[in-house]
Amino acid sequence: MTDNNRVVVLLSGSGTTLQAILDQQSQYSYEVVGVLSNRPDAFGLERAGKAGVESLSLDHKLYPSRELFDLELMKHIDAYKPDLVVLAGYMRILSSAFVEHYQGKLINIHPSLLPKHKGLNTYQSALDAGDSEHGTSVHFVTEELDSGSVVMQAALEITPSDTAQTLEQRVKVMEHHLYPKAIDWIVSGRIALQDDVISLDKKPLGPQGYRIPETSIVTEK
Ligand code: GRF
Repeated sequence: MTDNNRVVVLLSGSGTTLQAILDQQSQYSYEVVGVLSNRPDAFGLERAGKAGVESLSLDHKLYPSRELFDLELMKHIDAYKPDLVVLAGYMRILSSAFVEHYQGKLINIHPSLLPKHKGLNTYQSALDAGDSEHGTSVHFVTEELDSGSVVMQAALEITPSDTAQTLEQRVKVMEHHLYPKAIDWIVSGRIALQDDVISLDKKPLGPQGYRIPETSIVTEK
């Protein structure tokens, strides 16, 4: 077990991603020490409680500005002394101060093969674009939306019968394997970020990070 393994998760909704992170914690070297939500009704908070992890909600609607809300959020996150802050379906634009404060230790998972399909509705965008594959990316967070260095990706082939809903379900299965692994590789130091370049075991990776093939996603650890 590494010493730099304290993880705080931020979410806004159902928290299936958090659940996967919690369920796989015992196989990996990270420890989820806190879960925070900007929505008091987020089901992810209950998932944290069931797993015996401390959780807290701060209702962003009660704050006069994004900056003030983020400052308060940062105070609570920092109280957990995290080594990594993990966005897992956190549906808020982050202020510059927040992104700067956690530079190099803030990651997100975005359901597309970045740099393709930034923003929302990526499943429909991929179908509309006639893409032959879709997938998901874990990336470090920078000020520009979905644009930080990519750590890891997993892709699947789009079939003629796929709809936005089936794609979402298929991608989520991949995400639930990809994100815990990425978190583990970051806190254990296998993945490093320097000058916007990601390296794995000290070998620089390309702009799409480490690519996990679909066929190996369930079994590969
Ligand atoms: C995930 O699919 C992730 O790609 C995106 O938000 C979704 C969160 O889902 N960033 P859930 O709330 O964890 O179920």
